[in-house]
Amino acid sequence: MQETIKALREELSAELAGIKNQNELETFRIKYLARKGRIAGLFDALKNVPAADKPPIGKALNELRSFAQTSFEEKEKQLQQSPIAGSRAIDVSLPGRPRPVGSKHPITQTIDELRQIFGRMGFSVASGPDIEDDYHNFTALNFPPDHPARDMQDTFFISKSILLRTHTSPVQIRVMENQQPPVRVIIPGRVYRNEAISSRSHVIFHQLEGLYVDTGVTFSELKGTLVSFAKQLYGSSVRYKFRPTFFPFTEPSADMYISCFICNQKGCPVCKYIGWLEILGSGMVHPNVLKYCGYDIERFSGYAFGMGIERMALLRYGIDDIRLYFENDLRFLRQF
Ligand code: PHE
Repeated sequence: MQETIKALREELSAELAGIKNQNELETFRIKYLARKGRIAGLFDALKNVPAADKPPIGKALNELRSFAQTSFEEKEKQLQQSPIAGSRAIDVSLPGRPRPVGSKHPITQTIDELRQIFGRMGFSVASGPDIEDDYHNFTALNFPPDHPARDMQDTFFISKSILLRTHTSPVQIRVMENQQPPVRVIIPGRVYRNEAISSRSHVIFHQLEGLYVDTGVTFSELKGTLVSFAKQLYGSSVRYKFRPTFFPFTEPSADMYISCFICNQKGCPVCKYIGWLEILGSGMVHPNVLKYCGYDIERFSGYAFGMGIERMALLRYGIDDIRLYFENDLRFLRQF
């Protein structure tokens, strides 16, 4: 009898250790602890034990019963605490659920490519705040006090002198305030304008600014850099032209055009049937701007340029509605 008790104790311990859920535990309870269970069965068998042997065997049986009861309760507690309590067993042989993999936004991809091209030409990347002051966005860039670009129509003002930057050019000032020449940076970033939202314009878009200041920087260097850039981005057969224009912070200033590769200069809606695409504004940094930054204009000269990144991406991917970039529509984003 003692042997049977010992064997049962081992058997139920082993069984209990393998139990993984409430159902199995209930089966265990019925098998060993219930009124007709195996432990109760041994208590019944006690009747047939010779009187002299009863006390030690009875004691051993009582011990077995309380051991089984406490082990059962411990297991029950353990199962309730486990995170998969009550759930069905996990089938580890099932294939995993695939997670959707994201991709970079087309604007980020375009910025990455521009960074690479200008990085190879020695430009490093700088950045500045989206919330600017009037001084950096306008004054130090040589905007006269009554310049129309300061008009409330174009600019989101936060207070009289604080605004959302309308271009990345204020970062030119911030870089030059903190660094003596040579300066050779590109500045990608968000800009804001108070305009009606349509397929062609948005209140928020991105620009990439370039600035190079050193001794003896010339306009032909500006052209050489931009032509090299355009050929790297659009292919070596691209044609280009520069056309004089005006910016308060550059003199002389020029817009750069490339041949429309969408229609091969035959005329299409993207180039508005002129065969040429305007891709950026540029010019030699105005001496007043250098002076605002404390640069010696007898020693230093420089050039700057600025382009709209949405426009670059449009020409790269053929996206004809600027709003698509900001709507986070997965049907659009999944294509990149
Ligand atoms: N900041 C100008 C714009 O927003 C672009 C530009 C930058 C032009 C640098 C010349 C030099 O239109």
